[in-house]
Amino acid sequence: MMKVEVEESGNVVGTLLMPMFEDACSITDIDSDGVEQSLIEMMNHVISNGDFKAKAGTTLTIHNLAGKAILMGLGKSKDFSTDSAREAGASLVSKRGKQHGTEFTARLTSLSDEQAAAFIEGALLRDYKYNEYKSKDDEEDDDEDIVLHAQTANDVAALSAASDNAAHIATGVHLARDLGNAPPNDLYPMAYAEQAIAWGKGKDNVEVSVIEYAEAQKLGMGGLCAVGMGSDRKPCMVTFDLNPSAKGQPPVIVGKGITFDTGGISIKPSPSMDEMKYDMHGSATVFGLMQALWASGHQGHVVGISCMAENMPASNAQRPGDVITTMSGKTVEVLNTDAEGRLVLSDGLWKAAEYDPAWIIDLATLTGAVVVALGHEATGMWCNDDDLAKRIQNSGDACGELIWPMPLLPAFEKEMKDSKIADLRNIGSTRWGGSNTAAAYLKQFVQTRGEGDDEKQIPWAHLDIAGTAWGAKTNKMVSHGATGIHVRALHHMITKD
Ligand code: BES
Ligand code: MN
Ligand code: ZN
Repeated sequence: MMKVEVEESGNVVGTLLMPMFEDACSITDIDSDGVEQSLIEMMNHVISNGDFKAKAGTTLTIHNLAGKAILMGLGKSKDFSTDSAREAGASLVSKRGKQHGTEFTARLTSLSDEQAAAFIEGALLRDYKYNEYKSKDDEEDDDEDIVLHAQTANDVAALSAASDNAAHIATGVHLARDLGNAPPNDLYPMAYAEQAIAWGKGKDNVEVSVIEYAEAQKLGMGGLCAVGMGSDRKPCMVTFDLNPSAKGQPPVIVGKGITFDTGGISIKPSPSMDEMKYDMHGSATVFGLMQALWASGHQGHVVGISCMAENMPASNAQRPGDVITTMSGKTVEVLNTDAEGRLVLSDGLWKAAEYDPAWIIDLATLTGAVVVALGHEATGMWCNDDDLAKRIQNSGDACGELIWPMPLLPAFEKEMKDSKIADLRNIGSTRWGGSNTAAAYLKQFVQTRGEGDDEKQIPWAHLDIAGTAWGAKTNKMVSHGATGIHVRALHHMITKD
């Protein structure tokens, strides 16, 4: 992992990185500190010549006998935001060439404290490769960690603390990506469970427990079991309990964890089916969030529930037409075995209420339809509580992980209750509004609290991350594959809001 040293402006070690606004016409005095005169002259030359205009996203490498420098364009200062600062930090890593080496001195003096912190955060997040399955050979120094000297004209201690916090959170984001990228032959439900148990070992404020298949059957988790029974690698439910003895109602985060989604008997077409290994990204985010909270020293009680199963076609798989009984007691007519995420979540959401939660958020790569609606730009959010919705949306905005409100309409609930023979059906009656009907289905498994007129459903939100968890070309924090989406937004919401 990249090492960040926050320091005062002065020395230059390794390649100098000079972020610049379009409106700047030369290197300032403070930024000239400790830089060889010949290098400053060259930089000023390309700036005054108009060879480098500092347009957002552009870079220019300057190289002479005295050293190397990268000029990095930040665009117009009036358009510059925390989000752009984070992206600039990420581009340091994505645009880095072998010739730049692994040690950098970044002059962040023209950035505000918040922007400087975001710059460092972006660099940390983008510094990720999934190399688990690459044989090591001639990749040479590619594996060497980057050292980033982040220089500020402001409070070193404050920026250093923000940088450490970002590094702690990044360990959680990277863990979530590792899980999302892991091939489905190695990452199956119990493999996830074993990794979770190993993670909990030796952490005295963490309890990890696993409900294995046999126990899940006894507990009546009919949704989880129906989806997972057709695979040799049986389903399980994993719960993470961080700071279980802390006072107060915990937030509970529930993840969809389909380690591979073939569609089951309602089998999917083959193109891109391989990508369905990331159908457990909801659970990847749960695990990554727990790591991020733990690493950053969060003191409050937080619960994570991962609903793990592999959706396979087999002689012992569930069939379209089956009626199952979920843990809630509600029966479901399974009309399409490819609408499996909502089935495992039926039991996870029901179970969540056992913790008397402050609120429940579920994360799921639930529908292709949400990608039709929002592309890869935003996660869809369905929520039964306006305050909770606002908090989630604000946290997403603060982290550059957009979360967009979608409607929980009574008509969609009615549609999902319209089974001739069971309490619910697992798909809508037409293909329209497929993400909304899925959310309306999930709502049936959020328990209520209070008596009589005070009876109220627990505040709950469903986040459909099918478009944001994978391959988002416009997500500058990652090059390809699993994104680790919403580890940061949820960490922000739980710790800062
Ligand atoms: N895991 C898929 C949804 C998905 C699709 C995630 C594409 C990421 C990218 C989910 O289990 C699924 O198959 N949903 C069906 C629901 C339908 C059968 C009602 C879908 O979206 O087609
Ligand atoms: Mn499916
Ligand atoms: Zn799925």
